[in-house]
Order: sequence, then structure tokens, then C-alpha cells
Amino acid sequence: MIGKLKQNLLVACLVISSVTVFYLGRHAMECHHRIEERSQLGGILPLSALGGSMRTTLRMGQNLSSPFVYNKDMPLVFIGGVPRSGTTLMRAMLDAHPEVRCGEETRVIPRILAMKQMWSRSGREKMRLDEAGVTDEVLDAAMQAFLLEIIVKHGEPANFLCNKDPFALKSLAYLAKIFPRAKFVLMIRDGRASVHSMISRKVTIAGFDLGSYRDCLTKWNRAIETMYTQCLDAADKCLPMHYEQLVLHPEKWMRTLLKFLDIPWNDAVLHHEELIGKAGGVSLSKVERSTDQVIKPVNVEALSKWVGKIPADVVRDMAVVAPMLSRLGYDPHANPPNYGRPDPKVLDNTRRIQKSAEGPNPS
Ligand code: A3P
Repeated sequence: MIGKLKQNLLVACLVISSVTVFYLGRHAMECHHRIEERSQLGGILPLSALGGSMRTTLRMGQNLSSPFVYNKDMPLVFIGGVPRSGTTLMRAMLDAHPEVRCGEETRVIPRILAMKQMWSRSGREKMRLDEAGVTDEVLDAAMQAFLLEIIVKHGEPANFLCNKDPFALKSLAYLAKIFPRAKFVLMIRDGRASVHSMISRKVTIAGFDLGSYRDCLTKWNRAIETMYTQCLDAADKCLPMHYEQLVLHPEKWMRTLLKFLDIPWNDAVLHHEELIGKAGGVSLSKVERSTDQVIKPVNVEALSKWVGKIPADVVRDMAVVAPMLSRLGYDPHANPPNYGRPDPKVLDNTRRIQKSAEGPNPS
């Protein structure tokens, strides 16, 4: 009787231990698969892959032994403005900060945002989408995922990821809605200078007729108005940054910016040109139009190049063609306006650039 009991106990123990070994083995296999998937992603994981409700933990730098987790609640930074307003300089200065990565223009982000805006604006299209179950909630989740993937994966990971696609800020309000902790930097420049820059450098911008100062100034006015209005509405989430003031007083304005973004101060932002092409520094595109200029230290060469280049009839009508000029603090009748005096370091940079452009002294 006792022998039979012992035998049954032995069998039961055997069954329990086999089941335990089987489950432990299966779990180990699953873990192995997950690790393999992560290493294929280069150690970068959307939060959803780790279970959506997890708290965000970000890792900084190149060491990706543990995954870089990203999600819509990250403190993203969006830089924008009308092209030729110093947007590349702004992002290069931020890129020089060891904890920030912006990178090159993605080009697809403003396009998908414009498309999303079209779908929502057209009442008919909106109704059809809702009927098909493609509701605002579905589209917002899809936009968050798409934009995040592009922003995160087109460059190195960093504590603060930033995006610079000038026209993305036409959708500033929408971006603020889908990325609740995002902040925005709106680059503002004297429209006469931006327009002269695009025309003289032949920088094609969709919708701008480079054969006409009047047309370009009208389009500049419309674009900056759209962005500026949303920037003001976003209040403490958006910082308007005047290009002229940034180049005249870089330290003052970079300190203001980093404080606004809650990023610790680092002197590197004042020497972006020294970090071009370096690991963790400033990565530039060979095909972006501002690359030639942004490789230089901050200088004031570009401030008044437009003076005397704008047709007289457009100068005469300036206040009507570009009413945003005076709204942004530029005198539409001053040619040139007094932007202010540069800091000694900036003056020094400008003189050195001008001297090297003149070439060696023949004497
Ligand atoms: P100009 O074409 O008038 O020279 P964006 O990057 O938004 O297209 O802006 C381009 C403008 O930023 C150019 O204006 C360019 O000179 C200016 N810029 C780029 N790098 C600069 C620097 N290091 N210092 C001052 N201005 C700079």
C-alpha cells in the first residue's frame, strides 16, 4: 500500500517537473526571438513594441545595448519657418549640442502633414473617411507612428530629438495636438531678405514664382502669417526666433532657446561649424541648399544683401504686399532697417569670412 503511494508520488513529481521544464524552455525561446528582433531594429524600439502603457525611459548616446524607447510623449522639438529664414543655421546650432539631434530635412514630413490637412478640410472627404471607419482617432494614431518613425530613424538617437522641415510648422497646431510634449521654434526673417535669397540663389519652393518679387513676397506673407498665428496660439509651446537677432547675438538667443526647451546650456551651440561631420555633431546633406552657408561660423554677411535689389514698384507697395513685415516688427519702408549691432565675436567671424573671400593679399 505504502509502496503504491510512493510510486504515485514519484509519477506526480515527474509530471510536474516535466511541465515546468517545458514552460521554462518555451519562455526562453520567446525571449531569444525578442532579443533578435530588437537587434535587427538597431536597438531602437517604439514604445508599443514593449507594451504601450510602459513609462518612457530614454537612453542617450551611441550605446544601444539597451533599447532606445520612443513614443508620442517625448519632448520633440520642431523647427520651421519660411525657407531662407535661417532654419538650417538654427538646427545646426542645436545639433552641435551633445544631447540634441535634428539632422537633415526629411522632406516627407511637411508633405504628409499637408495631405492630412487636405483630408480634414474637405467636408465631403471627411464624411467618406468617417463612414469608412477612418476616423480622426485612427488617422492621428497613424500620423504619430509615421512621423515618429521618420524622426527617430533618419539619424542617431539622442535625449532630445528635433525635426527641421520648414513648412511643417504650417501644421503647428496639429503637431501640438498629436505630440503633447513637443515644442516649436519658428524662425522669422525680414521677408525681403528671404525672398531675395530664394530668387538670387534660385531656390525652388513649391508655389513661389521665382520670376516675381511681388508674388514671392505675397506668398511669404501668407505662409508666415499661417505659422505665426499658430505659434502665438500655442503660447508657451512655441518660441518665435528672429534670424537677425540670432546672428547678431547668438549667445543671448541660444540661452533663451535652451531654457525654453529645458535643455541644459552647452557652449558647443556657439561653435556649430567645428562639429560638422563629427560623431554626435552636425550632419549636413550634400544636396540641401543652405549647406554652403551653414559650414561658416555665425556671421552677419546675409543681413542686408537684399537692399537695392527689389523692384521699385514692389518697394513702394511693400506695406500692402507684405503686411506681416510690420506685424513682425520690421519697418516696411526702411531700406535697410536697423537690425542692430553684432556682438564682437560675430563681427570678428564676419571680417574673417570676408577676408578669406577676398583671397590672399597680392602685395
Ligand atoms: P542668404 O541666402 O540670404 O545668404 P534656410 O536654411 O532657412 O534656407 O536659410 C538660409 C539662410 O541662412 C541663408 O541666407 C544663409 O546665409 C543663412 N545662414 C546659413 N548659415 C549661416 C551662418 N553660419 N551665419 C549666418 N547666416 C547663415
